[in-house]
Amino acid sequence: MHPTINIAIRAARSAGNLLLRYFDRIDTLTIDSKGKNDFVTEVDRAAEQVIVEVLRKTYPDHAILAEESGYQRGRSDYEWIIDPLDGTTNYLHGFPQFSISIALKHKGVLEQALVYDPMREEMFTASRGEGAQLNDRRIRVTARKGLEGALLGTGFPYREQAHLDAYLGMFKSFVSETAGVRRPGSAALDLAYVAAGRVDGFWELGLAQWDIAAGALLVKEAGGVISDFSGGERYLESGNVIAGGVKMHNLMRRMIDPHLNEHLRF
Ligand code: IPD
Ligand code: CA
Ligand code: CA
Repeated sequence: MHPTINIAIRAARSAGNLLLRYFDRIDTLTIDSKGKNDFVTEVDRAAEQVIVEVLRKTYPDHAILAEESGYQRGRSDYEWIIDPLDGTTNYLHGFPQFSISIALKHKGVLEQALVYDPMREEMFTASRGEGAQLNDRRIRVTARKGLEGALLGTGFPYREQAHLDAYLGMFKSFVSETAGVRRPGSAALDLAYVAAGRVDGFWELGLAQWDIAAGALLVKEAGGVISDFSGGERYLESGNVIAGGVKMHNLMRRMIDPHLNEHLRF
């Protein structure tokens, strides 16, 4: 395993322990509202601090983009992208589906990725060109060719509801053609589940970079495809993603296309 991913694993485990400790006493947490349907707790911040501290110790020159503290410039071409708690709404309700997402870019290219589910002790990792693993065992996307019998993951647009109708159109076409659609509530983990073949595909719109970066490399290294809504590479910018095996991705893209408007071009 790449030495850098070992440092990221150490950071994720420490933050994971912290998340689990607080999970038992959720009612004592201080909660701020960032915006509509968007909450940040002291635990998001504390988990982020733990991760940043561990990474900074080994890589003091690297830049860091972290959800709660924003961008910290570095003196090298490396940039970490961190979501210390993906699935805060679940977490605050005691709904045990959330994750930690950590990715490393070099000169703009995703090199290392980790998504950690501390509840199940599942560590999904990938290094560019070296495949993807779940707890050190190789994972792959499914080879499913059609929607019939497929299980898909998704997320509902909930921050701003502008695209709700377009989204519901997509949802309607998938729900009637597949075996099922799940909305687990942690986009990073949803992408890890695509990589692990637990769902055949995933789509969501309006995500942030830190929701997607690690999961994107996991999907690619597991033999899958991830794109924006027009099939291009600008998903980190647009926050709109389609992910799955090669055939499933292509099929999903064709199903989503008729529901796109000028704001959802990519
Ligand atoms: C959220 C989760 C969720 C997705 C939202 C994200 P957060 O992240 O990934 O699944 O639907 O769009 O914002 O706020 O819990 O870190
Ligand atoms: Ca997130
Ligand atoms: Ca978060």
